[in-house]
Amino acid sequence: MRSCTPISHFAGTSSRKSLGPFLAMVLLLFFCTWAEAKTYRIGFAQSDTAESDWRKANTESFRDAAKELGIDLAFKDAGGKTDVQRRQVQEFIDQKVDVIVLSANEINGWDSVLLAAKKAKIPVVLSDRTIVLLPENQSKGLFVTWIGSDFRYEGRAAGAWLAQETAGHCNIVEIQGPVGAAPSIERGKGFRDVLGLFPGMKIIASKPGMWRADQAKEVMKKYLKDEGANICAVFAHNDNMAFGVVEAIEENRQLGLRPGKDILIVGVDGGRHGFELLIEKKLNALVECNPLLGKIVLKVATEVLQGRSFPPTMYMEDKVFTMHNAAQAFASRKY
Ligand code: AHR
Repeated sequence: MRSCTPISHFAGTSSRKSLGPFLAMVLLLFFCTWAEAKTYRIGFAQSDTAESDWRKANTESFRDAAKELGIDLAFKDAGGKTDVQRRQVQEFIDQKVDVIVLSANEINGWDSVLLAAKKAKIPVVLSDRTIVLLPENQSKGLFVTWIGSDFRYEGRAAGAWLAQETAGHCNIVEIQGPVGAAPSIERGKGFRDVLGLFPGMKIIASKPGMWRADQAKEVMKKYLKDEGANICAVFAHNDNMAFGVVEAIEENRQLGLRPGKDILIVGVDGGRHGFELLIEKKLNALVECNPLLGKIVLKVATEVLQGRSFPPTMYMEDKVFTMHNAAQAFASRKY
């Protein structure tokens, strides 16, 4: 019969040597519970929660994930002002948070505050928005990793869908995001990557709509007056601006054009209301940009503190939805 080794056996023997493993285990247990018990304080510098439905869902995903993961989330919102956001990141450094998560309002001008974070030994994780550092700072590891969607792919996917739908012949109005914001720059480039292959596809007008339906609506009202039925399609850089375009077209009784039929509309984000308009056939296609980054970014941030390393870029998976496949996917939309 195999004799069971009582824990006392382990503790029984009087030789010091035998206590070693026991002490080690006690220490290990202590460390694990201490590490588990440690509540990390993570500073999240958000660009502007009020700018779009996407950003609201993004902010909520961080708040929910922080609760779930037991993280002390210090949240600051820059209200769309980049100088305010830089100041807020500096405040996180002064408050000695454990990690800084940055969703940069604009791509440029982050070198000095990220150098300060590095000096303070506070790791920085970029969420959603990419930044561009000065050449001399690009190899200094000023951020651990970036997690988000491939904005250039999104622009290309929108262009490719439109090229197929119009057999490569279309006069296009583009409603961009704010100048200087990574998604505006990259989606614009990606879209033009595809247009460059189709001489029959032309951008006849392009203007920022600041991510907002009301501003995009005003821009589109003017273009309807200037270009009217000459417009074949609109590329809106996000859902909310696409909603403003639909309203502008519907309210222009004089032209009597129908959104999604007489004027094609392709957008980016793919939130629930966007899906509703796809199903109503008022929007034609939406390239998904998933805002639910909270959990993965905060998990990565905590694992960085536990010494884990990550690749410099981590992409979310995004799909293209059209008026033909939106209904099937609608029920599963989480944002
Ligand atoms: O960075 C992602 C973009 O920011 C979304 O496409 C837009 O809706 C948001 O405001």
